[in-house]
Amino acid sequence: MPRTRIHRTPATPWWRTAVSYQVYIRSFADGNGDGIGDIAGLRARLPYLKELGVDAIWVTPWYPSPMKDGGYDVADYRAIDPSFGTLAEAEEMIAEAHAHGIRVLLDIVPNHTSDQHTWFAEALASPPGSPERDRYLFRDGRGPDGSLPPNDWRSRFGGRAWTRTTDPDGTPGQWYLHLFAPEQPDLNWASREVRAEFESILRFWFDRGVDGFRVDVAHGLAKDPALPDLGIPEELLFEHERHREGHPHWDHDDVHEIYQSWRKIADSYAGDRVFVAEAHVREDRLANYLRSDELHTAFNFPFLTAPWEPEALRSVIDRNLASHGEVGAPATWVLANHDVTRQVTRFGRKKTLLGEHGYDIESAGPCDLDLGTRRARAAALLMLALPGNAYLYQGEELGLWEVEDIPEALLRDPTWERTGGTVRGRDGCRVPMPWSGAEAPFGFGPRGSKPWLPQPREWHGRTAQTQSGTPGSMLELYRSALRLRRGQRGFAAESLRWLEAPPGVLSFERAAVLRCAVNLSSEPYPLAKDWGVLLSSDRIENGKLPPDSTVWLWGGGARAV
Ligand code: NOJ
Ligand code: CA
Repeated sequence: MPRTRIHRTPATPWWRTAVSYQVYIRSFADGNGDGIGDIAGLRARLPYLKELGVDAIWVTPWYPSPMKDGGYDVADYRAIDPSFGTLAEAEEMIAEAHAHGIRVLLDIVPNHTSDQHTWFAEALASPPGSPERDRYLFRDGRGPDGSLPPNDWRSRFGGRAWTRTTDPDGTPGQWYLHLFAPEQPDLNWASREVRAEFESILRFWFDRGVDGFRVDVAHGLAKDPALPDLGIPEELLFEHERHREGHPHWDHDDVHEIYQSWRKIADSYAGDRVFVAEAHVREDRLANYLRSDELHTAFNFPFLTAPWEPEALRSVIDRNLASHGEVGAPATWVLANHDVTRQVTRFGRKKTLLGEHGYDIESAGPCDLDLGTRRARAAALLMLALPGNAYLYQGEELGLWEVEDIPEALLRDPTWERTGGTVRGRDGCRVPMPWSGAEAPFGFGPRGSKPWLPQPREWHGRTAQTQSGTPGSMLELYRSALRLRRGQRGFAAESLRWLEAPPGVLSFERAAVLRCAVNLSSEPYPLAKDWGVLLSSDRIENGKLPPDSTVWLWGGGARAV
């Protein structure tokens, strides 16, 4: 095993300021040419990630899975899906990443298993009230013959959140809960056995050297034991979730003791292991997950969904820094992931606010890709100048856009089927990466291989190879930003100070020598002359920052930026 070259500074754990990179493994790099990204492909691209300058990778689920929801339907938490590789390869990848100075986070999916998990098979084969059924949420139906679902909860992918089972003798049986697809039965976190199992799974991977976990649906595990009706009409569901108070299955208070026990496990390992929560909760409740004996970090989704507007961005930044500051947690910035429309596309539209679904592209109107690209560059420099840690989603460093014309027959997101073909879902941000060459598969796999989703022909202009070493490319912008961020002490400060600026311009100071200005107005913004340009997302002409661009400044003059 190669020796690890990761250096630790005991005072500040790495994850407080890290830049992590999300690897959606199915679409990252295909080592064996079957059209599906895999561990071999990821290993071959570790030098690229090192050169990019990231501190860690987060690998989306790579466990055995029927892939009904891109691997978020896990059949065995201690193994690797054969389409991605083997456990031995996974261990080698972890060691190699460490040798490159890159930490590795995995994705843990504790809210639900796959319906192909042995536990679920055992539950179906066992009678109502059995310990095997108690690992999930099985209930009798309502109505005289039990033909109505136990309550009115809805699946996040559309349709109801309950499916009726068939008993071994062929008669209709109990119902089980699935807040996502029917192939993703929800676990019963009131069960001691469930808790013990996940603690053991965490140890299994910590023992293999992983540095932490992204916690899927961290806000969903605990349910109100009475499973009461929501009593909300369908069209108000998302609105209700946003303002939820005492919701029976999102952000239930019982969830916190689970994370207290997980934190103890992480802390019992050497090095700084970390959790990052995917918790869609009301903003004023997110810090509850980040108390010092719970999870370390949580994605800032209000930042990700914010429109490209100065007041909205400034306000979301302030709110996040204030609430996290109260519990001593660092902010975790993110602009993209595998569930939402890519930023180049959403910032190129008239309406830049991301809808409740994160991917309701049909209603979003036309997109100006040049404008979206400019703004995505500016947004990246804004995000990377903020105090705290940040996550990149594979392909954002290449300026990839949302692929909105995938043929319907190829769509894989369960959302498409569950909404009766009305919402296309999230496949458009999951199209395999273009690495090199003039035509598909653009180096994603060997020549002649067919990626699992088709890549746009126009991506030949956005391959890593085309952009590498090309001044002004998106890739070189990200590389420069990460290099500067690592090297400049000013970026280590955990706070920022807003500076005076005209309407539409956000300007802040990270340290006496480091400033950032974002121009969201329609006028060029004159920069103070006694500050030097460290990096800018667009060309600075005559000392002016163009609209839709960001600059990092270096200096120490008395005048405001
Ligand atoms: C959040 C994941 O990011 C998403 O892709 C998945 O569909 C759901 N959780 C369910 O696991
Ligand atoms: Ca493959």
